[in-house]
Amino acid sequence: MPNKSKPAGKLISFEGSEGSGKSTQIARLAAHLQKIGREVVATREPGGTEIGEQIRNIIVHNSRGDEMCPETELLLFTAARAQVVREVIAPALQRGAVVLSDRYLDSSTVYQGIARNLAPGPVSEINQFAVGNVMPDLTIVIDVPTEVSLARIRQRASDLPDRMERENISFYTKVREGYLLLAKQWPGRVVVLDGTLTPDQLDQLVWAAVEPRLA
Ligand code: TYD
Repeated sequence: MPNKSKPAGKLISFEGSEGSGKSTQIARLAAHLQKIGREVVATREPGGTEIGEQIRNIIVHNSRGDEMCPETELLLFTAARAQVVREVIAPALQRGAVVLSDRYLDSSTVYQGIARNLAPGPVSEINQFAVGNVMPDLTIVIDVPTEVSLARIRQRASDLPDRMERENISFYTKVREGYLLLAKQWPGRVVVLDGTLTPDQLDQLVWAAVEPRLA
């Protein structure tokens, strides 16, 4: 018998290029949801579990990382995702929590598929295999022009940029266009918000997208 008082679990993913302001919006949304009494579980990709954090280190900080082929990169990102889905996300959804994921399967579609030119068919199949039936109820893409995103990355880079951050402007242009394309393909799930708005303005738009989906 389903417990009538238990809210339905929801998975909301946040996507966008580096420097889009995802983490600020996730923190604000988490606070808002907690205020109205929802359990919130925040995870970040490609980490979020001990195994995932180890995989993340190989991808992002490995000294020979520049030799990593796109296929390996895809399999590592999706391996980390398979783990966080089963270890954290699915159990949280079962409990009725709202899971906020800083990146999810669309990152692989866009970064490895579109920006690194891997064939879309296999990328999609591997992604689906990793997540099973745990698809986001809502995906918020925070869109910023490539130059703004690159300027923000440079500004916050206190130390050397990591491997993904060293990519050039044409890579990040493909990332941006990839997300916009995705929003056209999944109009019911993917919402694009203007990341050049103030955090307060964005906050309101995020809530307007989230609230109707919580029921
Ligand atoms: P991270 O430091 O977490 O960046 P951000 O704060 O921008 O999310 O590093 C994640 C990097 O990995 C980022 O450049 C995007 C990339 N990435 C992929 O290429 N494919 C993926 O499937 C995921 C989850 C991330």
